[in-house]
This record gives sequence, structure tokens and C-alpha cells, in this order.
Amino acid sequence: MKPLNVESAARKKSMENMTFVLFGATGDLAKRKIYPALYNLYLDGKMPQSMSVIGLGRTPLSSEDLQGQIEDALHQFSRRDVQNDNLQDFLDKFRYFIFDAMKEESYVELRKFMEEREAELGIPDNRLFYLSVAPRLINSIVNELDASGISRTNGWRRLIVEKPFGTDLESARELNATLQEVFEEDEIYRIDHYLGKPMVQNIESLIRPNPILQALWDHSQISNVQITASETVGVGSRASYYDKAGAIRDMVQNHLLQLVMMTAVHHEQKLSSTQIQKKKREIMESISPVSEQDLENNIIRGQYTPGVVSGESVKGYQEEDGVKEESHNDTFFAAKLCINNEHWNGIPFYIRTGKRMNEKATRIVIEFKEDSEATKDVGIVSNLLIIEINPNESVSLRVNVANHSSDKFEPTYIGFSKNADQQPEAYERLLYDGMIGDSTFFAHWHEVELSWEWVQPILDAFAGNEVPLHTYAAGSTGPEASHELVRRDGFNWN
Ligand code: BG6
Repeated sequence: MKPLNVESAARKKSMENMTFVLFGATGDLAKRKIYPALYNLYLDGKMPQSMSVIGLGRTPLSSEDLQGQIEDALHQFSRRDVQNDNLQDFLDKFRYFIFDAMKEESYVELRKFMEEREAELGIPDNRLFYLSVAPRLINSIVNELDASGISRTNGWRRLIVEKPFGTDLESARELNATLQEVFEEDEIYRIDHYLGKPMVQNIESLIRPNPILQALWDHSQISNVQITASETVGVGSRASYYDKAGAIRDMVQNHLLQLVMMTAVHHEQKLSSTQIQKKKREIMESISPVSEQDLENNIIRGQYTPGVVSGESVKGYQEEDGVKEESHNDTFFAAKLCINNEHWNGIPFYIRTGKRMNEKATRIVIEFKEDSEATKDVGIVSNLLIIEINPNESVSLRVNVANHSSDKFEPTYIGFSKNADQQPEAYERLLYDGMIGDSTFFAHWHEVELSWEWVQPILDAFAGNEVPLHTYAAGSTGPEASHELVRRDGFNWN
């Protein structure tokens, strides 16, 4: 599949020399995602000629220690093997700086350290700040970046912020106000790693250049859209965060609603980054707000009980380490939502996500209306256009093919896919975009705010225990109520 065909001035720019400041350099995300992503970009020659990377953390380490940790991380997590002949050159870009985000002196010293390194490398003060830190630190960091003058550059400056972006509508607004006191909206890059997934980025380039698929995208033919993000893993060691967040904050407010927007955007022609953002905002504005009736009928909350996943017996959520007793937290969420615009009016979108489900799968399924004459034949099922996002990356069409020996029709899948091993990972794409200054696949504040607005009544209802908490056995396809949600409208989850 071709790369996304977006007209973006930023994409055409060559990458400028810069400093990349990583807050949270010894953290899990840095090791699993950020260092491997930077290394693979390096292997592809997608880095500035000269780059200073400064890793910040409280742990007393030397730059050599950090480089050693990075090397280990690359061996463990890089999608491509580490190449000994260029590894040192890559690691040489990194320096470690002992830093306490709550201490003013730390910023003064950091500024000096950064400037010295810029002078040593002869690079301008283009600075990219990457915040992979606990949300409670963001406020101080952003204010101190400003007060210390670190973010007052002659060159460009950008801020990449990891999720969670707030814990509800109010806190998200507060956080955003803090960021916008110091940075302009076009300097803020809110990461949603689902937007970096190749298949999500490819939706547009899949449909627009293919008249045959455009014809399928005819809304009079579509009966419903289903978006699934299921996982086999449980809460793991993250209970202290997850037990407060639940699936609704962890997956729905951000990833699932972004998938809804990306699916619903219409790409009749090439769109610029700003046009895509505008369209996504319009989609969110057209989604019906959650009503009392929705809470009763169209919102499903679930929690896993003990079960078997991939042949292994696993605990129920309530028994997991760190989960508070009798927790009502949601580990599963499903909903029906309606987009009231000219394209999607009357076509329901069903979304669901859950931990400890039967399979790891992220997919978008467009289901087509059935031909009432044809369904009289035995075995006929609806046609589907299936976009597999993760772990498989493929597009397939489900069609009915006659089996003459049994005199029945059988569903057959016509698939087209590309070798996923060769595809850059989400973080590679997003870091690259951040470095060249292309914000197309980052979440704009409008989208984030509108998503929180949609989710807020659900958060309130969950907090007040006004929505039933359905259970489902680990390793299953989720609570029965979620099947009922689609069945009521004459469908099944695909
Ligand atoms: C993260 C969530 O944002 O996404 C995790 O915090 C979840 O709970 C993960 O497991 C899923 O991402 P992916 O890329 O594996 O689908």
C-alpha cells in the first residue's frame, strides 16, 4: 500500500538539526518505544544530520549508563536487528542529565547543558520536548520551561505530550490551558499512538485512488460500522493507574474515538493536515451526545472474571494485584453511536474494547446491506470490508461464493495485505512527523475536548454506578449485553 497521500508542506521539508529533550528517559515507554523508534529512523536515514538527544531522569546515571540502557532496549525491542557498525554513532547522540522536574535549579542547569551541547555540535536552538512523565508533573515542567527560558528559542520549538491527556473534561481543559499558556496549538503534538498505525494512516489512501472501493463506500449500501480493539492481556502491573482509568479513559476517549473519526472522514480529494483536522472536528460535533436513554440501552460496561486465555487459566479482574476490593472499574466497554451528518445519518457505529478477551485484534468492519432476494439462498451472509489494524495489517472483502458440491454459499475472503514486518511502527512514524513538524496524525485540542465532552456523561454515570456492570469470563468475546446491543438491530459483531 502506498504511503498516505496528504498534501503537507512539512513533509517536503528536510529535517533540521535539533535537540530532542526526553523527559522520562529511564521509563518503560522510552525503552520499549522511543529508543527503538529513534534507532529505526536512524537506520532509514530519517534523522537530522546533527542531533542532540538529552535524556532526563531523577536516577543518578552517567551518559554512558544511559547509552548502555538504550543498547539493551534496542536488543530487546527494536523491530530490526542492531547493527554493530553503526550502533556507537547512534548512541553518541545521547547524553543523560540528572533532573528533578520540581526544582527550579534543574531547569537553569539544563538550559546551560543544552546550550553547551548545541554549541559543541554547532546546531541551532530548534528544540523538541517530549513529555513521557506522570501527568501531575506536566504543569510544573511546562511553566518552568518557560520561566527558565529553555522554551524561548530563536529556532522552532515543539512539545510532544503522551496520554493520558487529563482524566475528565475539566482536567483536560485545565491541562490544555497550561500548555497553551506557553506553546501555540500548532506547537503541541498530542500523541495517540493509534494515529501512527499504518493501517489507520492508510484509510484515505486505500479508498480515494480505488474507484472500486469508492463505489463500496456508498452510504446507501452500508448497514453499519463496527470498530473493535480487543486485547488478551489483563491489567498486568498497571492496576494503580488502570483501576482509576478503566477502558473508557484508557481506550475509548482517545483511541476508539480517533478510529471513529478516521473512518468517518470523507476523502473525496487529497486533504491537507488542516482540512483533515477540520473534518475530524466536524465528525465529533455530529455525534449525538449521550442521553439518559443511551446510558440505558446503548452503553455497555463490563469486567472480566476468571477464565482461560490462550490455554492458560487467569485471574478475574477483582483478584488482580493492586485492584481495590469490589472495584467497579470497567475492563470492557461497548457502545452504539450515531453520526448525524449527510454521509452517516442512519448508519450506526458500534465500538467495543476490552482486556482479557479471546483475541488481540484491532479492526474496522464496514458491513453492507443484504440483498433480500439473494439472502433466500442457503449460506448467504452480508458483505464486509474488513480493515485489520493490529496485529495483522490487511484489508479484505467478504463475499459469498457458491460451493457446488454442497449447493450452499460459503463466505470467502478476498484479501490484500502487505508484509507488516517491513512497516515502520507507530512511534517511528509519529516521532518522524514530530521532528519534521507535521501534525496530521496527532490529536488536535478540538478533537480531544469534543471526545471528553462525549465521554463525560458516561464517566459520571459509571462513577454513580448508574449503568450495570456486566461480567464476562476472561478469554471470551465480552459480556452477553454487548452481543445483545448489536443483535437488537439485526447484526452480529464481526
Ligand atoms: C494503550 C493503553 O494506550 O494502548 C493500553 O494504555 C493498551 O492499556 C494499549 O494495552 C493497546 O495498544 P495496542 O497498540 O497494543 O493496540
